[in-house]
Amino acid sequence: MKPYASLSPKEAEKELAALRALYEKEKSMHLSLDLSRGKPNSEQLDMTQELLDAPLTREMCFSPSGFDYRNYGIFDGVPEMKKLFSDLLGIPEEMILIGGNSSLQLVYDTLMRAMVFGVVGSDRPWAKEEGLKWLCVVPGYDRHFRIAQSIGFELVNVRMLPTGPDMDEVERLVASDPKIKGIFCVPKYSNPTGNTYSDETVVRLAKMKTAAKDFRIIWDNAYAVHDFDENGDTLLDIFAEAEKYGNQNRIFYFTSTSKISFPGAGISMMAMSPENLAQAKKYISVETIGFDKLNQIRHLAYFKNAAGVMAHMRLLGKNVGKKIAIAEQILDRDLGGLGILEYQKPKGGYFLSIDTLPGCAKRVFALMAEAGVKLTQVGDTFPYGVDPEDRNLRLAPTYPSDEDLVKSMDLLTVTIRIASLEKLFAL
Ligand SMILES: Cc1ncc(COP(=O)(O)O)c(C=O)c1O
Repeated sequence: MKPYASLSPKEAEKELAALRALYEKEKSMHLSLDLSRGKPNSEQLDMTQELLDAPLTREMCFSPSGFDYRNYGIFDGVPEMKKLFSDLLGIPEEMILIGGNSSLQLVYDTLMRAMVFGVVGSDRPWAKEEGLKWLCVVPGYDRHFRIAQSIGFELVNVRMLPTGPDMDEVERLVASDPKIKGIFCVPKYSNPTGNTYSDETVVRLAKMKTAAKDFRIIWDNAYAVHDFDENGDTLLDIFAEAEKYGNQNRIFYFTSTSKISFPGAGISMMAMSPENLAQAKKYISVETIGFDKLNQIRHLAYFKNAAGVMAHMRLLGKNVGKKIAIAEQILDRDLGGLGILEYQKPKGGYFLSIDTLPGCAKRVFALMAEAGVKLTQVGDTFPYGVDPEDRNLRLAPTYPSDEDLVKSMDLLTVTIRIASLEKLFAL
């Protein structure tokens, strides 16, 4: 098939009529499918079922020095769990705090503390300043945007490039505007675009001059170990880079096992410079007497160490990678060469982010919904729920069965073709 833009009006009409007939046929099947949820299916969750099945014995609840983990105490995490994350991510143990079941909650609390108390280097609590802004890489993670918006930041879009955020733009903005207090980054297998920040991007983020002296990077490395196979991306160590330029306090690092063990029931962690961490601990120790250490022990008993996590991720990555590959094959098969879709093929993570022709995403969403397939709301990947070009769709292929995924993708390519022809030829 030749590119749609080069079809004659007659050819376009004929093609559209055929596609509409196909669409009506699919619609009559009364599908009820969902490509919107970025969560694992039961098969993936079953891979760690043993973590729950194995008994948590009395013996397991004591540290080597005899501390009873069933009790209050050690509020910043079981030392063996800190070591596991330290080995997994290459971050010194003394920079790590183990949290509860959600890294997003740690992000939220971190920003709330900044609002109420300021961060290391602030002249005053952030809430005492007017008109604060936050940089949001787009397309990006809707829940990040919602946190910053709900706290009262004005959200400023920065384009995602294959190498990470558009650093020329980031540098220009942060150098001139002291109201910009930070940026959200999902540096590896970004949600939803699936790309990993280049070394140059990491260095520039670590090094850049910021007008706000208390500028912070929320480094949400949620997909740090989520490669599909042994050819995964590598990410430069931002702490090491930041240290070179005296900017170690700039980095607030987060991750969790939500997409390793159980979403919302795993282990979260945050890492920051000793100075930042001391400040955070001062306030967190008021907020809680301690997080759930027994879940940390359960996870330790199952994974043992960082190598155990990596062994599990090789299996899980294969499973997720297979789903993503199914989706990619159908996109390539049906839309390749038509000039109506752009997307990058990730080497890990959880999502596929696709860009239709401008002005087509909402139409695709509506056609899919009408035929019984739910997609992530158009605009969710942008601040304020507005995709200025109406072209980005986030696909979450992990949850449906392979069979349902194929059905959903088959329909998706038909709807993208319909929406594109309608747009190109005003049909
Ligand atoms: C980038 C990113 N950060 C955080 C989360 C949520 O993590 P948690 O379950 O640890 O709160 C997700 C989940 O999809 C995510 O994609």
